[in-house]
Amino acid sequence: MNQTTTRISPEEIDRQRGFCAQIKAVNAALPTPPLALVDTYGCQQNEADSERLRGYLSEMGYAFTQSEAEADVIVLNTCAIREHAEQRVFGNLGALVHTKRRKPDQIVCVCGCMAQEKHVADKIRQSFRHVDLVFGTHALWRFPELLWRILSRRGRVFDIPDEAGSIAEGIPVRREGKVKAWVSIMYGCNNFCSYCIVPYVRGRERSRRPEDILAEVRQLAAEGYRDITLLGQNVNSYGRDLGLPGVDFAWLLEQVDAVPGDFLIRFMTSHPKDASERLFDVMARCEKVAPHLHLPFQAGNDRVLQAMNRRYTREHYLGLVRALRQRIPDIVLTSDVIVGFPGETTEEFEDTLKVLEEVRFDALFTFIYSPREGTPAARMPDPMSKEEKAANFQRLVDLQNAISAEKQAAYVGRTLRCLVDVLSDDPRHDLNARTPGGRLVHFSGDKALLGQFVDLKITGSSTWALFGELAREE
Ligand code: SAH
Ligand code: SF4
Ligand code: F3S
Repeated sequence: MNQTTTRISPEEIDRQRGFCAQIKAVNAALPTPPLALVDTYGCQQNEADSERLRGYLSEMGYAFTQSEAEADVIVLNTCAIREHAEQRVFGNLGALVHTKRRKPDQIVCVCGCMAQEKHVADKIRQSFRHVDLVFGTHALWRFPELLWRILSRRGRVFDIPDEAGSIAEGIPVRREGKVKAWVSIMYGCNNFCSYCIVPYVRGRERSRRPEDILAEVRQLAAEGYRDITLLGQNVNSYGRDLGLPGVDFAWLLEQVDAVPGDFLIRFMTSHPKDASERLFDVMARCEKVAPHLHLPFQAGNDRVLQAMNRRYTREHYLGLVRALRQRIPDIVLTSDVIVGFPGETTEEFEDTLKVLEEVRFDALFTFIYSPREGTPAARMPDPMSKEEKAANFQRLVDLQNAISAEKQAAYVGRTLRCLVDVLSDDPRHDLNARTPGGRLVHFSGDKALLGQFVDLKITGSSTWALFGELAREE
C-alpha cells in the first residue's frame, strides 16, 4: 500500500497564484483582455483538468474564445486512450501552424495524457516547432509558472515529470455552467489492464482527503449545482491509499449523500473487481445517488478477460448485475466493451454478445482495440484482420442498438422527475433533461427551467434519446 502520496503544499499553490497575478498585471496593461482557448479531447477527468486550466487562466486575466484564430493562448488538453484520439490531436496541432503564422505571438500549449508520453513529447519537440509549451498531467498544477516562463523569456518549455503523481488542492476551477459539476475524488490507476495507457500517463492511484471532497461538494450544493459526478478511473478503490479505518467509496458516497441540498450524485468509473454488494446497498439507501451504474465489462470471455488483466470472470460480473438489480430493479446499466483484443477469436467475441443479451444494458460504449505503445497487449500476437474485427464490431453495435431501442421505448408513457441540464442546440426542442438514471430527454418549455427538476411525460423514443413534454398536474 502506498501511503506516501505527494501532496502539493498550499504555499506552493499560493506561489502559482502569484504567477497568475504577475501575468494578470501584464494583461491588464492591454486595451482589451487577451483571449484563451482550452480544447479538451479526453474523458471527464480530462474535462475536470480543463476546468482547472481555465480557472488559472481566468485568474491571469484571460477571457475565453472558441476561435483558434483569435486566441492568444491555445491549450490542447489531450487524450491517449486510442490511436484515433491521438490522430485528432496531431491533425489539429498541425493546422495551428497556419493560425500561428497569421498571429505570431500566439502561444500554443499541449498538455494532458498524450503530453505525458515521452514518445509524443519527443515528436512534438522535433516536428511541431510552433508548440511553445508541453506539460504532462503531473505538471498541471504548475501551469502558471510554466506560462510565465514562456511569456517572460519566449523559448520552448517541456515539463514532463516522470513521477507517480501528486494531489494539489486549491487550484481555482472555472466550471462550465451552473447545473452539473465534476468532482475528482481520486487520480491515477493501479490496475494495469493490459491494453490501457492510463496507468502510465496518470500515475498511481491516490485519493483526495474526504474533508476536501466534502467541502467541495458542500460548496457546490450551496451554489445550487444539481448534478454532481464523483470522478476517478476506479472509484471503487477510493481510500485504499489513505489508511483511514472505515474510509472507502461506499462510506464516501454516504457522506456526500448527507450533504444538504437538492442534487443528484453520480459517479464513474466503477471496476467490477472492486464493486461490492455493500456499495449496492448504499446506492439503494442513499436518496441522492442516481439509479445508474457504469460498469465496464470489456469482454464476455474468461480467457480474454484474463489476458486483459481484468481480474474478474464473466460469472462474477453477471453475479454483480443480479445483486444490483435485486436491490435497485430500475437501475440504468451502462458499460464499455472492446472488440478485437489481440488473440480474441470470433467465437470468444460471441461470448461478449451473450453478455449483452443476458444483461440488456441501457447503453454501451463500444471500441475497437487500439494498440498503445508501452502496454503489454501491444506486444501480443494479433492475427485477426481489420475487416474481421470491423465485422464483429458491427454485429455488436447492431445487437446493442436493437436492445437500446427496446429499452428506450419502454419509457414511453411514463412520467419521470428529470433534471433540465442544458439548453438544446437542436431547433426542434428548447431543452435537454436527464432522467434519474441519466437517459437524455428532449422537450420544449421555458428556458428558465434550466437547472430545475421537472416532471416529464415521455412521449417518444429513439436509440439514443427520449422525447417528452412537461407533465400537467391532473
Ligand atoms: N477506468 C475506466 C476506463 C477508462 S478508459 C475503467 O476501467 O472502466 C475508457 C474505456 O476505453 C475503457 O473502459 C475501455 O473500454 C476503452 N479502452 C481503453 N484502452 C483501450 C484501447 N487500447 N483500445 C480500445 N479501447 C480502449
Ligand atoms: Fe485503464 Fe483498466 Fe485503469 Fe480503467 S481500470 S483506467 S481500463 S487500466
Ligand atoms: Fe484519455 Fe487520459 Fe482520460 S488517456 S480517457 S484523457 S485519463
